Amino acid sequence: MLANLAQPGDAMPHPGVAAVGETPVPEYLRLNYWWAYVHPAAVRVFERGWLVDLILWGNYRQLSAAALAALGPRLDGDSLQVACVYGDLTPRLAARVAADGGALDVIDVLPVQLDNLRHKLPGDTAVRMLEQDSSCLALADATYDRAILFFLLHEQPADIRARTVAETLRVVKPGGTIVLVDFARPRWWHPLRYTWLPFISRLEPFAADMWRGPNGMCLPPEPAHQRTIRRFFGGMFQMVTLTRA
Ligand SMILES: C[S@@+](CC[C@H](N)C(=O)[O-])C[C@H]1O[C@@H](n2cnc3c(N)ncnc32)[C@H](O)[C@@H]1O
Repeated sequence: MLANLAQPGDAMPHPGVAAVGETPVPEYLRLNYWWAYVHPAAVRVFERGWLVDLILWGNYRQLSAAALAALGPRLDGDSLQVACVYGDLTPRLAARVAADGGALDVIDVLPVQLDNLRHKLPGDTAVRMLEQDSSCLALADATYDRAILFFLLHEQPADIRARTVAETLRVVKPGGTIVLVDFARPRWWHPLRYTWLPFISRLEPFAADMWRGPNGMCLPPEPAHQRTIRRFFGGMFQMVTLTRA
């Protein structure tokens, strides 16, 4: 069984991207996010630093820097990024991992997104890009020292989200770190508290779940795994850092 699972350091069938086009595109992605990720033109539209920053109300740099810092002071060993993101988070993560002598795997269910990532990394990158669904990872238990999920969970229906979190916990080693960054409910005084949710819910139907904080993220109840929570931009964003039990 485990022989079929990707292990850090395994050879890839072809450079950069393993197993192209073999994973079914989840229905929620096809129906709700064709315009953002699935359509081939989406990458050309959204892969712009200023646009990603605009969507996050000018907080991209702060949030991505905080997430990278929360992964730990040294990124040796094996790191996993669950789903690609627009912007330069992955190139920055890959550079830190390489500087610390570690290895990085990035999974995504869409070949077009993995291909886009390949173009953002140096030609000789050691980063492995694996076409996989976050809710059923073909990765062995307790493989990684740390994992990051950056604005993935609000896009997934609750049942898929719960499986994504469970799968991430499964593949991270006990004592390893999991960093999750996503939207949250702005505080009572925030000017966007009552307007942001109706707006974003039209585009992103599952995002409202994030308003429930870590519970909406489908995290296991404490004290199963130690967690810290940080809020940003008047509560509009949350970063949860878990230490795998
Ligand atoms: C991380 S999320 C959102 C990131 C954020 N909006 C950004 O780009 O800055 C977007 C990525 O998640 C991927 N994705 C969504 N559902 C997935 C799943 N079930 N398995 C793997 N990747 C998934 C999409 O293909 C897309 O590349």
